[in-house]
Amino acid sequence: MSNKPLTLRATFRILVLSTACVLMATGLASYYLVRAATAPSYSSDVAPILKRNCLSCHSATQHKSGFMIDSYSALMKGGKHGAVIVPHDAKASRIIQLLEGDEDPQMPLESDPLPEAQIAIVKAWINAGAGDSPAVDEAHAAAQKLSQIPEIRPEVPVTSPVTTVKFSPSGNVIAAGGYREIRLIDPVTGNVLATLVGHADYVRSIAFSPDGKMLAAAGGSQARGGEIKIWDVQSHQLLRTFAGHQDSIYSVAWSPDGKLIASGSYDKTAKLWDAETGKELFALQDHIDAVFSVAFSPDGKRLATASQDRTVKIWNVGTGRRLYTLSDALDGLTGVAYSPDGSEIAAAGYDKTIYVWKLAEDEGHLRQSLIADQDSILAIAWAGDAQTLVTASSDGSIRLRNPATLDLTSVLDRQPDWVETLDLSPDGKWLAAGRYNGSLSLYNVATAKEVRAMNLVFGGPQVVAANEARK
Ligand code: HEC
Repeated sequence: MSNKPLTLRATFRILVLSTACVLMATGLASYYLVRAATAPSYSSDVAPILKRNCLSCHSATQHKSGFMIDSYSALMKGGKHGAVIVPHDAKASRIIQLLEGDEDPQMPLESDPLPEAQIAIVKAWINAGAGDSPAVDEAHAAAQKLSQIPEIRPEVPVTSPVTTVKFSPSGNVIAAGGYREIRLIDPVTGNVLATLVGHADYVRSIAFSPDGKMLAAAGGSQARGGEIKIWDVQSHQLLRTFAGHQDSIYSVAWSPDGKLIASGSYDKTAKLWDAETGKELFALQDHIDAVFSVAFSPDGKRLATASQDRTVKIWNVGTGRRLYTLSDALDGLTGVAYSPDGSEIAAAGYDKTIYVWKLAEDEGHLRQSLIADQDSILAIAWAGDAQTLVTASSDGSIRLRNPATLDLTSVLDRQPDWVETLDLSPDGKWLAAGRYNGSLSLYNVATAKEVRAMNLVFGGPQVVAANEARK
């Protein structure tokens, strides 16, 4: 039903709608009835298996790889590589790949694999949508049995995180990405100017062209391939799509002269693309783990890449050659940012530490490192006016610092959820922070006060799947 051609739907909307109603009343209803009766429930079937076998290493106090299973929301949040459960797709879910040993290291670490029957329960639960509320399922099934009147319920809504946020070069537009979509927002009014749809999966990174006329939005399907879509910011038209990489793209940057686009992927490589033609110019291949962040130097001659392999590498943009490696970090790096004058670079990640290096032609020297947060640093940005270096951490805070000394200037703590992405306006006056729960806030940097809060409510995979099933 969801594959009905668009033209048909447009021309015969009424017909299709009434057909859909009939189908829903017959086929779908029995489908839902069967499913409600047979799908394992989170709290009575799945949670006990995970608590028994995984809690020793994946709890709030002992979160190996950033992954916790203490609660449904923590489980759905996933680990430091992102979500490990893809609702309706057990095969594509990392938790299953790790339980079945298709991916290393097999979980539970240091003990026997789970019995097949238990893995089957987790798989069936994921394939049924990975919902969290047995009470709803059971009540629903009971109600169905009693009345036999079909009733279609939406699945448990799981909204998508705000996965990336970026100010346009003029500061007039904020672009925020989530599951399959981008919202363009007016920071002054908070109005949504446009919703750009058509991405394969999470939009994980956005970069504006230097003239602000276009934006590049990157993501792609986990373990399948990366995509970069170029959008016209004014007309909201999709201009082109570049496909490449063997896994999702986590970071994208646009060169200061507008000619190149850089991407960093979970496939351990970074690439340089011709922004106009989409031709791949160089594949940068020295990292030995996922590349989470890429940044051009302000003069556009160099590219910095930060990786889960704990290093920052500096590349010659003209030749695609690696120039040198900065290897002081003790754990994976999630973000990298140049100082506005290009003389220094900062990076941070899972070891909670901010590293700042002074950069020379063929080497970099650690100028300062500071254990800056109480938990993993998820995002870092260096303000264009050079007055602020900001980090967001999974300890629930945003911290603003003086980049010259790393002294704290303000703390925005008690964030309602993890801030996974942040950006400073080009003039350094405003901070935009996107959270795991789909909310976005705008702060005045000088006063450290929140001036605007929005809820973007991108549909999560579950919401989208439920909507498609109902079409
Ligand atoms: C003895 C400790 C231990 C136990 C028990 C354990 N794990 Fe892990 N788990 C780890 C470690 C360590 C890592 C990081 C592995 C790596 O990246 O090399 C990890 C990583 C993971 C990840 C990847 C998270 C990410 O995003 O990187 C998942 C998913 C996971 N474990 C699931 C489970 C499940 C499900 C169970 C229970 C069936 C389990 N683990 C039991 C230690 C453990």
